[in-house]
Amino acid sequence: MGVSGSAMFRWGRAQLSGGMTQSEHETRTVLVTGATGRTGSRVAAAARAAGLTVRAASRSGAVPFDWADPGTWDAALAGADGAYLAYPSDIGAPDAEAAVGTLARRAMELGVRRTVLLSARGEDQARPAEEALAAAGGDWTVLRCAWFHQNFSEGPLREQVSGPELVFAAPPELREPFLDVRDIADVTVAVLDAPDGRYAGRTLDLTGPELLTWGEALAAVAAATGTARTYLGVPAAAYGDALRGFGVPEDEVGFLVELFTTLLDGRNAALSGDVAEVLGRAPRAFGEFAEEAAAAGAWKTP
Ligand SMILES: NC(=O)c1ccc[n+]([C@@H]2O[C@H](COP(=O)([O-])OP(=O)(O)OC[C@H]3O[C@@H](n4cnc5c(N)ncnc54)[C@H](OP(=O)(O)O)[C@@H]3O)[C@@H](O)[C@H]2O)c1
Repeated sequence: MGVSGSAMFRWGRAQLSGGMTQSEHETRTVLVTGATGRTGSRVAAAARAAGLTVRAASRSGAVPFDWADPGTWDAALAGADGAYLAYPSDIGAPDAEAAVGTLARRAMELGVRRTVLLSARGEDQARPAEEALAAAGGDWTVLRCAWFHQNFSEGPLREQVSGPELVFAAPPELREPFLDVRDIADVTVAVLDAPDGRYAGRTLDLTGPELLTWGEALAAVAAATGTARTYLGVPAAAYGDALRGFGVPEDEVGFLVELFTTLLDGRNAALSGDVAEVLGRAPRAFGEFAEEAAAAGAWKTP
């Protein structure tokens, strides 16, 4: 037996039409966007492990969903009780505010009361999208996340990290509180699943447990793989020139140069206790991630 329609569902109180109370997890359904990506795939796994029913959504996911095509949104949202929103490719992109705001308002209309937005720590460009989420109402929570551990093992930097040298726009002395996406997933599920909705209306600041330079992080990868690597920090403008050379469109280069110039100026060089507050344990360390990723073959070259 299931609950049909989300209007009759309330977080923490799953009442069946016959007046019976069913176990909360049996009727909780969450939409996970970006479900084939770094965070969404872990959110989906953690939500399933917590007993939630997951709608794994993306353009190529089990549930078809395209941020650029609102025609795909209703089927993904209707009947869900909560949603994890990851906006590609960057939450600070100029079109994120309108998309997140419109989707969040539609979610409220369809009874999807609890929303979690993946945002970025220290990224001023992300604030409009965060505000659009809050303005839509409901039980919203923003997760302002530090740079992911998994930027080293998945996505555009992986290939460079697999080789002898990583060139990036972070100054060599910059210290970053790298964060494991599995901790984002665990926090997301704790927020979506909190019976008392205690994280509603909050902006959580998520960091890892230590401040590392990019060189120190790369050294941890080198130690885990047994192969030497060096880090070369270059100015954001020079990094932009390199991206241009690889054919990255001009508007994207402009956005990234501005983003890296601000985001990588030291503003994030402090730790937060929010992961521990929500999960009751310390966040995962970079070294632990590097060992596991190396063992899984993340940096094996063909
Ligand atoms: N990297 C970091 O260190 C960091 C730190 C803080 C915040 N963030 C934020 O993280 C977000 C990205 O999340 P992520 O790293 O988990 O994702 P990701 O690994 O980059 O993967 C992107 C996901 O979005 C889906 N997708 C792409 N275009 C889509 C579209 N038009 N409509 C629907 N789905 C689409 C992809 O699946 P399909 O291709 O199947 O659609 C995939 O599941 C960005 O908002 C970024 O600002 C990143």
